[in-house]
Amino acid sequence: MAFTLEWKFRISIFIVVSGAGESKDASTTLDEASMAMKHELWMAKCARIYVDNAENQWRFKIFKENVEFIEKFNTEANHTYKLGLNEFSNLTDEEFAMFHTGYNPTSSFKNSSFQYENLTDVPPSIDWRNEGAVTPVKFQGVCGSCWAFTAVAAVEGITQIKTGSLISLSEQQLVDCSKNGVNQGCKAGNVLDAFNYIQTNGITSETSYQYIGKNATCDIEKTKNIAACIAGYESVPSDSEEALQKTVFDATVLCFGENEDGINYWLVKNSWGANWGEGGYMRLRKDVGFPEGLRGIAMYASYPVV
Ligand SMILES: *[C@@H]1O[C@H](CO)[C@@H](O)[C@H](O)[C@H]1NC(C)=O
Ligand SMILES: *[C@@H]1O[C@H](CO)[C@@H](O)[C@H](O)[C@H]1NC(C)=O
Ligand SMILES: *[C@@H]1O[C@H](CO)[C@@H](O)[C@H](O)[C@H]1NC(C)=O
Ligand SMILES: *[C@@H]1O[C@H](CO)[C@@H](O)[C@H](O)[C@H]1NC(C)=O
Repeated sequence: MAFTLEWKFRISIFIVVSGAGESKDASTTLDEASMAMKHELWMAKCARIYVDNAENQWRFKIFKENVEFIEKFNTEANHTYKLGLNEFSNLTDEEFAMFHTGYNPTSSFKNSSFQYENLTDVPPSIDWRNEGAVTPVKFQGVCGSCWAFTAVAAVEGITQIKTGSLISLSEQQLVDCSKNGVNQGCKAGNVLDAFNYIQTNGITSETSYQYIGKNATCDIEKTKNIAACIAGYESVPSDSEEALQKTVFDATVLCFGENEDGINYWLVKNSWGANWGEGGYMRLRKDVGFPEGLRGIAMYASYPVV
């Protein structure tokens, strides 16, 4: 499961800006003038200048829809978190997803068949740490390599599940060598482009190509001893925690279970070291009743296939 905390954070950013599509019939809570003012302020804050009036009007429309969605969402008492504007508030859902998650709504990726759709008897909980499929929590440092940690954790998990060997794999190889798609080392990257790279090149172990937490030149010699391969990757149908649960049960390092108080949760691994959260993990409430799940966890999940 390409789903560590970094992914969730992208998703949470996405949630912050989402809604251009859903908000069509949201009641307008601000008049046009104050909305225009808001937009001006946002543009100033984000240093955004549009090339011409047409672009400006188009972006204003998207911005307005995002603001309306946020306001509607924040007035609904049944959410456990609030939304706000951020630097992505000028984008539609589709644009954000394309630029920042690698998900392409126009490709056949979304409607590709879901291999776990007919899975039954999914147990109420599973913790892949107990099955030996999860490496110790890592630390990404000041490098923006969350995408590499996310992809690596997913590939480590599926490799252990299919082969029985748990091998810590190399994030640094991805940082240095995966320059396909939007991947740019410590600056930016996404999980799907990382999966693409691993599908083509394989990935070596952490011991062969150690993490240094900064950009470096791809060391081809170090990449030669391939420790894991994937055949490809697939997406979990959006907006279904049930689909996510089926996937997790079969193929991932994300876990789920029930708290002492009977509340279901997803367990999410992060890459900020073991001092963060609960030994480097956090629990995220499960089955919240919204299709997208808490913080959009069920929106754009994907997993490698071996
Ligand atoms: C959206 O705004 C950001 C700045 O916050 C800018 O970098 C980006 O180019 C803008 N995108 C579009 C499509 O206007
Ligand atoms: C997926 O959907 C797109 C657009 O809705 C369509 O063009 C494409 O043929 C579909 N792909 C598959 C594999 O069904
Ligand atoms: C799930 O079951 C349906 C109905 O039997 C079948 O058409 C579909 O191909 C199955 N899906 C997979 C991924 O095996
Ligand atoms: C949350 O509240 C809104 C209106 O306040 C309602 O439309 C929606 O169905 C509620 N969702 C859940 C999951 O209870």
